[in-house]
Formats: sequence, structure tokens, C-alpha cells
Amino acid sequence: GGGGKAWPTHVVCSDSGLEVLYQSCDPLQDFGFSVEKCSKQLKSNINIRFGIILREDIKELFLDLALMSQGSSVLNFSYPICEAALPKFSFCGRRKGEQIYYAGPVNNPEFTIPQGEYQVLLELYTEKRSTVACANATIMCSEF
Ligand SMILES: *[C@@H]1O[C@H](CO)[C@@H](O)[C@H](O)[C@H]1NC(C)=O
Ligand SMILES: *[C@@H]1O[C@H](CO)[C@@H](O)[C@H](O)[C@H]1NC(C)=O
Repeated sequence: GGGGKAWPTHVVCSDSGLEVLYQSCDPLQDFGFSVEKCSKQLKSNINIRFGIILREDIKELFLDLALMSQGSSVLNFSYPICEAALPKFSFCGRRKGEQIYYAGPVNNPEFTIPQGEYQVLLELYTEKRSTVACANATIMCSEF
């Protein structure tokens, strides 16, 4: 408490003009995240690894993403990851206290990251609006 300690900054990409860093913004825990291959040209199915200890049951799980550039909001995005009737991933339905680990593809739009520096806020939360994970990231994309 008081001042609050910050979690370490993790490097996801630092290669070929693309740098992606993230930090957990959940005061209770840090988590691991990596991507198989960093590229400014995002393929439609990128392989990721993600590991976390669950703070909540995740019968339903949602992702909110807010993208900012130079202090201005660029994009807000909300995406269901686990729905009771449509569990998209093997870890959907796991319980509080369990450790989950996912390595595999995620479905994302094919996309070329424009040159620039971006701030991203990510939050995973349940149907009760309880936070499961929170991260803030910085993306720096240069010409080379
Ligand atoms: C996360 O946010 C904190 C507080 O605003 C900031 O100091 C830090 O640089 C950010 N980390 C990343 C990786 O963007
Ligand atoms: C994204 O959400 C924030 C906070 O609710 C809001 O201030 C901002 O205007 C939104 N941005 C866009 C691009 O809709």
C-alpha cells in the first residue's frame, strides 16, 4: 500500500522495428504473456502464450481494450472470450484459484500496425464485472 509498487515491465517484442512492452495493472498479481512471432503485419491467427492464476471463476470472460495515441483515444474494443453458451477456449469454466496456461492461436483481424507509438489498456473481467487481469502496454512501431 501507499505509493503502490509497480510490476516489472515485460518485453513481448523487440525486433524489426516493433517494440511491445506490458505491465500488469492488477495490484494483486503479475502474469505472463508472449507471442510466437512479432511482426508489424499481424497475421489472422497469431500464436500466443498466456499464464495466470485465476482470481475469479471464469464461466464468462470478456476483454476490453482501449487504444490511445499521443494522449488521444483511438479505439475501444470489447470482445467475449468465454460465454456460458459459447466457450471458445479450453480454459473457459475454470475456477478461482486455478492456474491457467494457454498456448495456441487467437483469432484476430489481419492488420498492419501503422508507424507510431501507442498506449493500450487491457482488462479481462467476468460477468460480475470482477477483474481477472489488467495490463497496460506500449507499442512502438518504427519504419525499420
Ligand atoms: C503502464 O502505466 C504506468 C503508469 O501510467 C506507466 O508508468 C508505465 O510506463 C506503463 N507501462 C507500459 C509498459 O506501458
Ligand atoms: C473510449 O472510451 C473512453 C472511456 O470510456 C472514452 O473517453 C473515449 O472517448 C472512447 N474512445 C472512442 C474512440 O470511442
